[in-house]
Order: sequence, then C-alpha cells, then structure tokens
Amino acid sequence: MVGAGHLGRGVDADDRRWSLVTSGRVGLDALGRAATLSETCERVKPRLLDWLQCPWCGGSFSLEPFPGSDPADIDEGLLRCSCGRVFPIVRGIPRILADAFALHGDFVARHRDRLPASMPQPDSAEPHADAIRSTRESFGYQWTRFSEMVVDFRENFLQYISPVDERFFPGKLGLDLGCGFGRHIYNAARFGAEMVGVDISEAIESTRVNTQGMPNVHLVQADVYHLPFRPGVFDFAYSIGVLHHLPEPETAFQRVVSLVRPGGSVFIWVYSNSRRFLNFALESVRAVTTRSPTPVQQFLSFVGAAIDWSVFIAPYRLASRVPALGALARRVGPARLKVYAEYPFQVVYADWFDRLAAPIRFYYDERAMRGWLERAHLDRTTISPTGLFGWRAYGERS
Ligand SMILES: C[S@@+](CC[C@H](N)C(=O)[O-])C[C@H]1O[C@@H](n2cnc3c(N)ncnc32)[C@H](O)[C@@H]1O
Ligand SMILES: [Zn+2]
Repeated sequence: MVGAGHLGRGVDADDRRWSLVTSGRVGLDALGRAATLSETCERVKPRLLDWLQCPWCGGSFSLEPFPGSDPADIDEGLLRCSCGRVFPIVRGIPRILADAFALHGDFVARHRDRLPASMPQPDSAEPHADAIRSTRESFGYQWTRFSEMVVDFRENFLQYISPVDERFFPGKLGLDLGCGFGRHIYNAARFGAEMVGVDISEAIESTRVNTQGMPNVHLVQADVYHLPFRPGVFDFAYSIGVLHHLPEPETAFQRVVSLVRPGGSVFIWVYSNSRRFLNFALESVRAVTTRSPTPVQQFLSFVGAAIDWSVFIAPYRLASRVPALGALARRVGPARLKVYAEYPFQVVYADWFDRLAAPIRFYYDERAMRGWLERAHLDRTTISPTGLFGWRAYGERS
C-alpha cells in the first residue's frame, strides 16, 4: 500500500503558492466570498492560459478579451489559435470544444459582430460523436438538476482517492477530469492544491457556482479526447466516476496520464464488475431506460431511489445508530450503505439517475485495471476495491 507520506513530490514550487492557500483562508468559508475575489483573481486566469494549448494543432492561444472584461480576469472573450480555430470564453470559462459556439448561442447573439464569419464546425468523422454528445446531454441535465453541495463531500472524496489523503495536495497543480458539479475539485482545492476542472457538459456551470470565490480553481469546458493542455503540465490528475462512461475508457485514461509530469500521480475510480448479477439486472433495465425520454428517466430514478432509501438505506442508518446494534450493522453492512447513510435523499436520487440514464457504463475487474496501469507505464501502482461496487487505481509516471 502506498502511503500518503511518499506520494509524488512535496511542495517544491514556490511559484505555485498563493497567499490565500498558505494562509489557510481557502475552504468552506471561501464560498461566496465575493469581496476577496477582486484581490485574488488577477493571478489566476493568466496562469490558466500558460497551461493551455490548442487540442487540434498544439499551438498557443492568443487572448482577445471583450471590452468590459477585466484583462486580468476575463469574463468574456475569445481564444485564437494560429491554425485558425477560435474558442469562446463564456462566463469566465474557456469553452474549448469543436462545437463551442453552437452550444453557447446566447454568447453568439451578444457578440455576433466580433466573431469569425464562419464558425468552426464539429468534425463529422469524429469517432463516437453520437455517444459523446448523448453522454454530454445526459450529464449536463443530471448535474444542473442535482447541482447543490448538500454536504461538503470531504469524506466521500477521501474514500475515492485512498491511498492519497489530504496531505498530498498543498502546493501542487492538479487536474480533475469530469468535475461534474464540483464536489471533488472543491475539496482538492480546499486541501491546498491549485486545481483545473474539466468537464464536457453544462455541469461545468454548477462547478462554477460551487467553487465561486475559490481563487485556486480554474475551469475549462472540454472533451477528454481533445484535452487543451500542454503535456506534462500537471503534478497530478484524477478522474472519479467518469472513465467508465466514455466510449473508449482506456484511451481517455492514457490522455489524462500524458498531462502529468514524470513523477506525478494519477488516480481514478471506476465501476467494478464484482456484482455480476446486479450489474446484469441493471443493464437489462438500462436497455430500456437509456432510450426513454428525460422525464421518464427522472420518474424511474425517483422510484428507484425511494425504494432503495426505504428498504435499505434508512433501516441501515437507523440500525447503525442503535447502541447495541450499531457496531454489528457497521461491520456487516455493505460499503454502499455506509456511504449513502451519510447523505440526504438527493444524493441517492442523483445516483439513480446516473444509473438509469447515463448512456454508457463499463464494469471492470482487477486484472483489467492492472492492464491499464501497466500499459500506461505507471510506477508505484496500487489497486483497491471500494466494496463490491468500484475500484480505485493509483500510479506515478515514470
Ligand atoms: C458521473 S459524473 C462524475 C462527476 C464527478 N467526477 C463526481 O464524481 O461527482 C461524469 C462526468 O463526466 C463528464 N464527462 C462525460 N464525458 C466526458 C468527456 N468526453 N470529456 C469530459 N468530461 C466528460 C460528464 O459531463 C459528467 O460531469
Ligand atoms: Zn490550433
């Protein structure tokens, strides 16, 4: 087991420190503290541009802020590449997707006269274009509907990233691939890392709200198969609950690994295939639900969550709090119940929506995980289960 004491490099990059983190002011109380933004933001956005490159040609971007945007904290503008591609910055987030303008019609309407006459179009030969689009739409809906940080998810994050713990983060530059509504990037930033969150879907808007006022969080809307970062720029990268939803999960994993510097760390969490019967039953149901309209998916998810809650989670929760019974319940209870017992119904409902609506789900055994780590040439690897429902995999770049 790799211990957190020797994971990756320690804090060695003075230029990666920033006053708020070292003075311990970033945290729960940073949320919504608009007053601190003006004094801190100017060091954030230009740094993000240093790490970016055009995913299609590898070139640097030139920045064109729109009038009204603070040049040091750009709210709206364009990123231009010498290959001719142009990408919008909308609500302070670079949108580096082939169809970025089509997705942000409001931006196009407001700035039509500043935009190129012909907009870049998605490549029709793009492999898996339909799967990527339907996954984006499903999660865009999910994480804007279930966007609230109902709890701070600290323990949840620590559970997914073991053997890494909070001592790993201070002073490092990290990537959260598929940041969803921002629960994990929020904690990674709170633990002291400077973080870049990437998500392909509208979920990124929820991360923006949930990390508002945190000067050490940067966001980019992008696709894992066209990541807009310089190779080796990050000290670490993680992806929690994302890769198994992609059309080519291992390829996506390799893309993420390539962004981490030699000696840097990569950690992921994916679904396990240990619950063969349950997974088979779920996939049979999903054959119908993934093809159903969103309101039907929402209704069925609510029903699934309500049954799960009343038959399993609530009784476990009750039993675990009864003095005589509690220790036994905690010892024999399945890992998933221990997790859900800590959260409100909303989290269970969101996970049921994920289960029934996400277009793609892959399940893995330990051998498959081992193969991923080996083929990515990672050192100091560990693989550990989270109950029967998932695998954590960790490695360092050689
Ligand atoms: C199950 S959610 C997990 C969110 C977050 N990691 C968490 O654990 O709360 C999967 C996320 O991956 C994002 N995603 C899906 N396909 C992607 C792609 N091709 N590139 C980047 N992000 C993607 C989705 O938009 C969604 O927010
Ligand atoms: Zn380019």
